[in-house]
Amino acid sequence: MSAKIIDGKKVADITMNLLKEDVENWVKAGFRRPFLKVVQVGNDPASTTYIGAKTRACQRVGIDTDTAHLPDTVSAKELKEAIKSFNEDPTVDGILVQLPLPSHLSAHDVIESIDHKKDVDGFHPMNVGRLTVDQPTFKSCTPAGIFELFNYYSIPVKSKHAVVVGASNIVGSPMAIMLSRENASGKATTTICHKFTKDLTSHTISADILVVAAGQPNLIKAEMIKEGAVVIDVGINRVADETTDKGYKLVGDCDYDAIKQKASWITPVPGGVGPMTVAMLMKNTLLAAKKSIYPLD
Ligand code: GUN
Repeated sequence: MSAKIIDGKKVADITMNLLKEDVENWVKAGFRRPFLKVVQVGNDPASTTYIGAKTRACQRVGIDTDTAHLPDTVSAKELKEAIKSFNEDPTVDGILVQLPLPSHLSAHDVIESIDHKKDVDGFHPMNVGRLTVDQPTFKSCTPAGIFELFNYYSIPVKSKHAVVVGASNIVGSPMAIMLSRENASGKATTTICHKFTKDLTSHTISADILVVAAGQPNLIKAEMIKEGAVVIDVGINRVADETTDKGYKLVGDCDYDAIKQKASWITPVPGGVGPMTVAMLMKNTLLAAKKSIYPLD
């Protein structure tokens, strides 16, 4: 079997075009343009790249954006004061603090200081809690983007065995919640694996849907998956490659070429999940702007 490619770039393009229309209709109806405030602490090169992609996405769909760039020496108090000012600013619809933060800052503490009504990442405990009990919320962008891909390609999830590798608060954990809930879009029997899981293959081999978000190149090999599995590779790893101008290339967590021969569907890296994450951030920011005018729930 040769897997069909899940083209995240194409689906993100379609989604972004629809969102651009939605934003223009919102503005034509007399409302202020949605505004996303991004907070960057320090100069992590990957964070700078991701923020660049988010800024360009905002420009493309007509969402205003601005990045508050704070030094990596900023204290927790100063950072939270800045966030408080954005919470209180009625012209700010969405707030995104780019992670990871320098080690002297607690991401939990910082995320909790964001007004949950402006938490367009869906990381605030209020939003994670609402997701867990099937209440309308800002869904974490990467899992939400993966569900958009399932919908677009009519990939069934209900009653399948879904295995998530990686239990981060950004991807693995909310992905497992969304896959497993009985009342929302998932309804899959869900296993979540992490670095303490014994015999990873014994779990991945039975997955109808395998979502890998471990941040470890080449973690999942063809012999670890079931014939015909749907493989969603969330990993974005920089590995040294002197044949490229940048000196590195991006690879996922899966052995793409070998798994492609065995899976039924697969996401490439880059061009799979990544563009959908950004599109979902745009969707959440527009939703935050709408909710600030018309509380929707
Ligand atoms: N770092 C890596 N991914 C993300 C994300 O989706 N949001 C934020 N805020 N930081 C990240």
